[in-house]
Formats: sequence, structure tokens, C-alpha cells
Amino acid sequence: MAFELPPLPYSTSALADRGMGQETLELHHGKHHQAYVTALNGFVEKNDALKGKSLEEIIALSVSNEQLAPVFNNAGQHWNHILFWKGLSPAGRAIPGALEKKLIEDFGSVEAFKSAFTTAATGQFGSGWAWLVLGRDGKLKVTKTPNGSNPLATGEGKALLGLDVWEHSYYLDFRNRRPDYVANFLGRLANYDFAEAELKAA
Ligand code: FE2
Repeated sequence: MAFELPPLPYSTSALADRGMGQETLELHHGKHHQAYVTALNGFVEKNDALKGKSLEEIIALSVSNEQLAPVFNNAGQHWNHILFWKGLSPAGRAIPGALEKKLIEDFGSVEAFKSAFTTAATGQFGSGWAWLVLGRDGKLKVTKTPNGSNPLATGEGKALLGLDVWEHSYYLDFRNRRPDYVANFLGRLANYDFAEAELKAA
């Protein structure tokens, strides 16, 4: 079965007063994410080795295969954006208790987590992603990946939150000010309830 663009869990205007405008969401979800899904389906259609495989299986198959780099890029970006949309919230809630406790345990403080995340997100040269990951050692950590890669592909652990730092995610709202986009995400837009639920489910 072909992969499909999942609907956003909120309307395209729902995040406008939290720093992510309707036009950004319409283009980012409706055009960019859709383009990754369409391209991925095109590759699967032409390659029997990919047919019937889950998204995670396709990522695992293509991650270290140079010939399948275009497959990996589009599969990775589909996976990344599915997580990204879930990690944004129109409600802008505070960090819930269990996640806060774990952040303090593993980073020393919530501020230290935010600082590490900001360094990763602003330090990723060019396109890519910053992640809050539950590592294989059971500890939270912050990582960054280039282009369409992610913690599933690198084997670093389970991603709880991912921030898209491709310019298409922030240019309309923040122009070239990636640090402002990152601060806005951490302070007003991140869905920490989702991250906590993923942590508890791990
Ligand atoms: Fe994106």
C-alpha cells in the first residue's frame, strides 16, 4: 500500500499565534512533506525490494546503501515530519512532571537541556534536525542529524521530539533567524506532553 501524508493533528492556522503561520504549515505540510511521500512512493513502485516494507524497514534497508540514498532521504524525511507534527502543540503547555524530572536527572536542569538543544539546532550546518532522544543507555540526550537522517537511522535511540531546521520550516516566520525559531519552539510550541507520553511508552 502506498504511503500517505497524514493529516495535521491541528488546523493550519492553529499555531499562528505561537510563531508558526498558516502559510508555513500549508507549504511545509501540504507541499514539502507531500513531496517526500510522493517521491518515496515513486521509488517503492520501481523497486521490488522495497514493496510491502514498512517505513522503518525501508529506512533500515537504505541507510547505508549509496545507491538507495534518494530512497533514504525521502523515507527519512517522511518519518521525521510525522514525528515533527506531533511534537508541536497549539496549547503550549509547560513541561509535565515526569519529563521534567527525567530532564533534570539526565541534563542537570531543564535550562541545561534547552541550552544543549539550542546548540544542536543552531549548530547543525545547513539542513537537518535536532532531537531529544532516549538513548539506548536509558538516558535522555540531545543529538542533531543532517538532511533526512534521524535517531532511528543512526541507532542512537528513540526520538521523543524532533525540530526541523531546514529553512522551509522557519523562513516565512523568522526569515534567517534560526535561533529565534529554536527559542520559540522550546518556549511556546513544543508538545512536551507528547514527548512525555513517548518517554513513558518506551
Ligand atoms: Fe521540513
